[in-house]
Order: sequence, then structure tokens, then C-alpha cells
Amino acid sequence: MDFFQYQQDSLRAEDVPVSDIAAQYGTPTYIYSRATLERHWRAFDEAFSGMPHLVCYAVKANSNLAVLNVLARLGSGFDIVSGGELARVLAAGGKAERTVFSGVGKTTDEIEYALEQNIRCFNVESESELQRISEVASRLGKSAPISIRVNPDVDAQTHPYISTGLKENKFGIAIESAPDVYQAAAQLPGLNVVGVDCHIGSQLTTVAPFVDALHRVLALIDRLAELDIQIKHLDIGGGLGIRYKDETPPSPAEYAAAMRDVLTDRNLEIFLEPGRAIAGNAGILLTRVEYIKTTEAHRFAIIDAAMNDLLRPALYQSWMEIVPAKLRSDLVAEIYDVVGPVCETGDFLGKQRELKIAEGDLLAIRSAGAYGFTMSSNYNSRPRAAEVMVDGAELHLVRERESIASLYAGERVLQD
Ligand code: LLP
Repeated sequence: MDFFQYQQDSLRAEDVPVSDIAAQYGTPTYIYSRATLERHWRAFDEAFSGMPHLVCYAVKANSNLAVLNVLARLGSGFDIVSGGELARVLAAGGKAERTVFSGVGKTTDEIEYALEQNIRCFNVESESELQRISEVASRLGKSAPISIRVNPDVDAQTHPYISTGLKENKFGIAIESAPDVYQAAAQLPGLNVVGVDCHIGSQLTTVAPFVDALHRVLALIDRLAELDIQIKHLDIGGGLGIRYKDETPPSPAEYAAAMRDVLTDRNLEIFLEPGRAIAGNAGILLTRVEYIKTTEAHRFAIIDAAMNDLLRPALYQSWMEIVPAKLRSDLVAEIYDVVGPVCETGDFLGKQRELKIAEGDLLAIRSAGAYGFTMSSNYNSRPRAAEVMVDGAELHLVRERESIASLYAGERVLQD
């Protein structure tokens, strides 16, 4: 459920007509709904109520400071994958002690920074990384809380680019080798073994792979107990899918119920790392139709947003819903390929869409709140879009549109 709905014929973001936002801030513009973000975060938090847990929102999904701040105010934790994301969390009022650090390539600088800030846990992805964290922590006179991300070798049945829990993926440590790696970690100086971590992929639309992975990870925790390694928390990762088109993903409550069934009588604090399920349907990308171009083969709607603004369709052939800001009854519906101005054939936002539109009309690309702006670039020297957050009838500019001058502000020409 989100708060982007039509009232009469016009699309609103909460109580604000999106056409007002275009008039004030131009297009393309990302629009986020505070009420939707809060609703989704609370859905996870409530679903796990009654058992110790921490919802660590995956910052990579949408790292705008206003988004992080809204969630921090609810008491959210955060899952980060870089020093940059940690800086954002702290700048937005998030707490280091509620932040876990994932990712296969943490640098020495990033490890130092995270230790200095006293983050909650490092989710370690290799034996070399364990060594590195041990060295850095010992040098700083710190004890680094760690969990090992294990790869349970389950098929998340999602797009291969966002499936992470299979043996062939670069993520985590094979679950069979985990007991040995945990024993080695327990001997290393500067490390405090506290958890087990597991993330199997993104945009999962059934609970079965989560449950499957959970059984395997709990068996590992039992094995570790036999080896006298006591695990305090289990991080079950993110990955719960959302509806883009006609998917029927489990709700956070259904997901939690399935996990709870397996977790009974376990004395573990549960961490979760949802990103998309919190932010995805809390955002839209508002864009304007610049030109309509008809060729022998196609009718194109050329819009002012492109693959540099929203990469998912070009990168994963993802289907994202495209709707008009104003429902028109004065036009007949036509079939359009909705494309951007970037010089790539892959620059499309949607293909074969039935729309009633004319040049100058506004379109909204739905479900763009996660992996939208965060994956945007300046390709073709296009300034990145503005970002706006709606809160009831209030409108907040939360990132101004980039200027052209900012595109090359850090560049230098040769002096001779
Ligand atoms: N935790 C870890 C360790 C992750 O790698 C990810 C996502 C998450 C949590 C959050 O997963 P979520 O709840 O959002 O599914 N760019 C792709 C998605 C890449 C996801 C990468 N990792 C897309 O646009 O579909």
C-alpha cells in the first residue's frame, strides 16, 4: 500500500498533486512519501514484535538524508556497504550502534572509520577480510564485533544479477567451511564473534528460499554452540520483494510469521536488512513527455528521464509501471515505447505501454523509491534529478537538481 493515488483524474503524492511538484521543481524529479516509508518500516518492526530484533534498513536502496532521517526517527538501524553510507547515516541522525556493515570489499580506511564510530557489527565476507579487521582493530586497541556472512547455497529464484546466495556468487563464505572459519575468527586478536549473517538475494516473491536458508543457518548456529562459539544475533538479511506489476510477494507479516515458525525457542536477537520493501513503493519518478515520435515500427514517447536517472529497466529489463499524472478522456490510447534522451538503444523506461498522452504531459514511473536515484549517474552529462519528499500537504526539496556547472566542477584542464 502506498500513498500515490488518483483523486478525480490527478495523481497525488499524499495530499499534493504531482503536477504542482513539476510546476515548482521541474522534471525529472523523484518524489518520496514519508507516510509510505514509515508505514513500511513499521510493518517490519511490528511483524517481529515480541522477539528481540533490529530492522536495519539497507541504505543502498535509497540513501537520501531525508529518507534516512525519517527512518532514524522511528529508531531504525541501518545496513551499510561503504564508508560513504556510514557518513550518510550519521549525518542523518542514525546511530552507529544500530548499524551493520556488509559488503565484500571493505577497505582499511572504511574499517578504521567504522571502528572509530563503534558500529554494531561487521558482516564479514572472507577470511582475508577477517584478518584485515583483526589487524586494524588490534592496531587501534579496539575489539571489532563480527558476524560471518554465510552462503547457504539456496536458489532465491530471482534475477541472476540480484541473486546472491548461490555457491557461484561472490558473496559470503560457503556454509560448509563456516565452522572452521568461525574457529579461526575466535582465535584472532581484536575480534569479538557475535553473530551469523545471511542474505540470499533481492526481490524474492516467496518465503520458501528464506525458510530454507534459515534452517541451514540455524543448523550452523547449533554446530557452533557445540564448538563453544555462542552466537548472540542472527542477521537474516533483506530481499523481500515488492509488487512492480503483478507479483504477489509475501507481506512483511507473512514473511515474519514464516521465520518465527522456524525461530521458536531460539535465544537470538534477529537483525533484518530490508531495503526495497521499505523504499521501493515509497517513491515515484516524475517525468515529462518531450516528444512523440512515430516510426514505421514503433510509436515512441521520448521523456526527459533516462537510463541515467533510473537504470533498472536498461540493466535488468525490469518492468516498472508508467502512469499519467492526469487521466485523459480526450485522447485515444496508443501503444508506446517510453524512452529517454540518452544515446543508447538500451535507454528505455518501458516498452509497449498503452497510454493516453500528448507532448508536454507528465508521467510517473512507479515503484522507483528503491534503487532509483542511488543507481543514477551523469551519463551523457545529464545533471541528476531533484528529490522531493511529501509529508501530508507539505512539500520538501530534499536534494536540489544538480546544476550543469557541478558536473565538471572537480575537473581540470592541463596547464601547458
Ligand atoms: N543486505 C545485503 C547484504 C544486500 O546485499 C542487499 C541488497 C540488501 C540487504 C537489501 O536487499 P533488498 O531488501 O533491497 O532486496 N539494484 C538491484 C538490487 C540490488 C540489491 C543488492 N543487495 C535492483 O534494482 O533490483
